[in-house]
Amino acid sequence: MKIDLKSYPIWHPFSQMSEWAEMPKIIRAEGVWLYDEKGNKVMDAISSWWVNLHGHAHPHIAKRIKAQLDRFEHVIFAGFTHDHAIELCERLPKHLPQEDWKFFFSDNGSTSIEVALKLAIQKYIQHDKVEKVTIIALEGAYHGDTFGAMSAGERGFFTDPFEQHLFDVKFIPSPTKENAAVCMKALQEALGEHNVLIFEPLVQGAGGMIMHDKALLDDLLREAKKNKTITIADEVMTGFGRTGTWFASNQLKHVPDMICLSKGLTGGALPMSLTVCKQWIYDVFLTEDLSLAFLHGHSFTGNPLACAAACASLDLMEEKKTWEQIEMISSMHREAAERMKDWGSVKSVRTCGTILAIQVESDLEAGYMHPVRVRLYDAFMKQGMLIRPLGDVIYLLPPYVIKKEDLLWAYQMIEEVLYTEVESNLKADVH
Ligand SMILES: Cc1ncc(COP(=O)(O)O)c(C=O)c1O
Repeated sequence: MKIDLKSYPIWHPFSQMSEWAEMPKIIRAEGVWLYDEKGNKVMDAISSWWVNLHGHAHPHIAKRIKAQLDRFEHVIFAGFTHDHAIELCERLPKHLPQEDWKFFFSDNGSTSIEVALKLAIQKYIQHDKVEKVTIIALEGAYHGDTFGAMSAGERGFFTDPFEQHLFDVKFIPSPTKENAAVCMKALQEALGEHNVLIFEPLVQGAGGMIMHDKALLDDLLREAKKNKTITIADEVMTGFGRTGTWFASNQLKHVPDMICLSKGLTGGALPMSLTVCKQWIYDVFLTEDLSLAFLHGHSFTGNPLACAAACASLDLMEEKKTWEQIEMISSMHREAAERMKDWGSVKSVRTCGTILAIQVESDLEAGYMHPVRVRLYDAFMKQGMLIRPLGDVIYLLPPYVIKKEDLLWAYQMIEEVLYTEVESNLKADVH
């Protein structure tokens, strides 16, 4: 049944509203399960757009938010500070690569990117009196939907209408094994005198869970750093254990100058982000002159409820059992990937930490608009599993609390759905 668009008041994100059948109305959620008003339950296999770490309705996160709410809900963050913001920023450095960081708050992944790009550009233009900054990003990148973030992302039908209004960015191939020969050369050719390199470390999420060759990425960072480059690691998706370590940057030899965090920062409970920058960047802006300060902010910057949620999520991230779960999911994904390689419906399969990505076999051109996307989404929903394919790539990115038996069930559902929706169709095409 289609939604009655006349009476339905909402315009949903990333949606052609005319296409949608009735959307499930969620009335309760617990752990990895969402419950709708009709009594159906759906496994949240993608952590609600990659934000949820510890399962839905986690009592510890709720408790810390409530305690803060009982004291006060928000305070202007220019000229005022509060306990939870300080606690969060004092606790984070010990989990980041190196410890000399300063923390700038904003509201979501895209704004954390805007802040990082603006900091880098202002540093060069205003403080170093540089005339031109070269911005370099990876092909297949996604950094968000605001203008700066869109400019630094892969161009395509998402960005086409805005193309004339985006700033110039040089794109280089992602540092995957297949691109090894061309990647370094492309970077060397792209580098100008003063550069910014922005990248999603180890896994490029929305681009189709593209997984990097770690050594190659490190080589690129070394080359960039040799050539006056401010490096920005977009860890909006990869942060907080997703790739098997606290941050993907912990697995690299070359530490970025800025790290963008959001999504899992609050355990997925409330929107917030941090642009984490090296002390030396902060020091550049530290003068006696207000016009040389970083004049950027948002109404809800440093919101105390979101900071309380982030501290609660840190409490859980610091527990041994969370890391046991991350290891359990990672090793089950690796084993599953070995089995899936031989399935007729699977073109390729890859894993990194708690992320398992499967590209399905198809004779059609890949890409986000791949027609198999909608078919698979619907088929998984019928089985009671939320998976949002990225074109012809499906992936599992579950909350860390997922039980072993639920993960096994998820693999089994993938096998069944791929068989009925992909393999049998391929066979039918042959006959
Ligand atoms: C790597 C990365 N950066 C930035 C963003 C943008 O974050 P938000 O949707 O919170 O603006 C996303 C969102 O998916 C992302 O995956």
